[in-house]
Amino acid sequence: MIPIARPQMGEEEKQAVWAALESGALAQGQRVRQFEQGFAEFVGAAHAVATSSGTTALHLALLASGVGEREGDEVITVPFTFIASASTVLHAGARPVFVDVGEVDFCIDPAQVEAAITPRTRAILPVSLYGQPADLPALEEIADRHGLALLEDAAQAHGAAIGGRLSGSWGIGCFSFYPTKNMTTAEGGMLTTADAGLAERARLLREHGMRVRYHHELVGFNFRMTDVHAAIGLAQLPKLPAYNGRRREIAARYDRELRGVATPAVRPGVSHAYHQYTIRVAQRDEFVERLAARGVGSGVYYPIPVHRQKPFVALGYGEQRFPVTERLTGEVLSIPVHPSLTDDEVATVIGAVNEVANELGPVASGTSA
Ligand SMILES: Cc1ncc(COP(=O)(O)O)c(C=O)c1O
Repeated sequence: MIPIARPQMGEEEKQAVWAALESGALAQGQRVRQFEQGFAEFVGAAHAVATSSGTTALHLALLASGVGEREGDEVITVPFTFIASASTVLHAGARPVFVDVGEVDFCIDPAQVEAAITPRTRAILPVSLYGQPADLPALEEIADRHGLALLEDAAQAHGAAIGGRLSGSWGIGCFSFYPTKNMTTAEGGMLTTADAGLAERARLLREHGMRVRYHHELVGFNFRMTDVHAAIGLAQLPKLPAYNGRRREIAARYDRELRGVATPAVRPGVSHAYHQYTIRVAQRDEFVERLAARGVGSGVYYPIPVHRQKPFVALGYGEQRFPVTERLTGEVLSIPVHPSLTDDEVATVIGAVNEVANELGPVASGTSA
């Protein structure tokens, strides 16, 4: 079976981890600082703060932005995402306000953001889903005009760009290094920002409010990354451009050769990082089974919108309607696009998708290829 993801671990990662283990410096230390510097430089942000996961990066970014300080604070985000984009808003003591995504790019619709702003809104939290950056220039303009924080959930967007400017360099960026991501540290995350004060608050919150050992300035968390994980990240980071290049090459071939399914649209000026290559299909469950029978793995990100997940239904979100999100959750299907795919494997995926699409008929909505 061609898997939907295949993390790449080479000699460099093994040696870097071994060196970290042998050094005896296992917890957050020099390697974490080096990784932060390297990642900040890569993104084009002045500061980077490494964390234990993408989820904790989001949590820190919200708290360091002051979200949750006032009763009834609201954060505008999307229901078409991984639950952490919204659950961290609850953890920060604020209320997620969902708006729908656009039909073309699957990202937050800036016009709907503008309409959802109230006196209680503190932040806008777009998700750069599948590796396509949300419309960050438009969102930044809205955030600036209303005095709101802009937090990009860039968990899937390492190396994605708009007009050459990378995801993570607008407002605050929050990345995940989970194994299936474009680069990994096994588990880990990173917050990026141009704001020195915000980075400092995030660092304090990350380590129990300690600048001086056992002197606590505030009530914080242990959201640290270890040097062992940073060692993997330091070995992966230089490989990211080539990994993304291969992802883009495979995506371009899918764009050209897939038939009978809706292929992903990329907004003008965007450099997509193709964390996922996501098509839209008819009869998705059957489609998945028929692909699997042909040796092709696939994934559904995400089958249930966040507002329909149990804890959000319990909070009263269940009756809200987001037509684009709801349509997409029934149709999206991600096919393998990871950089280790061979050309033969890519051909197998194309052959399988085209055969199954031919058997099951075209997708009902969207832009069919
Ligand atoms: C869009 C999105 N947000 C947040 C996260 C959370 O990242 P992590 O799994 O590293 O906590 C992920 C990763 O799975 C994600 O895909």
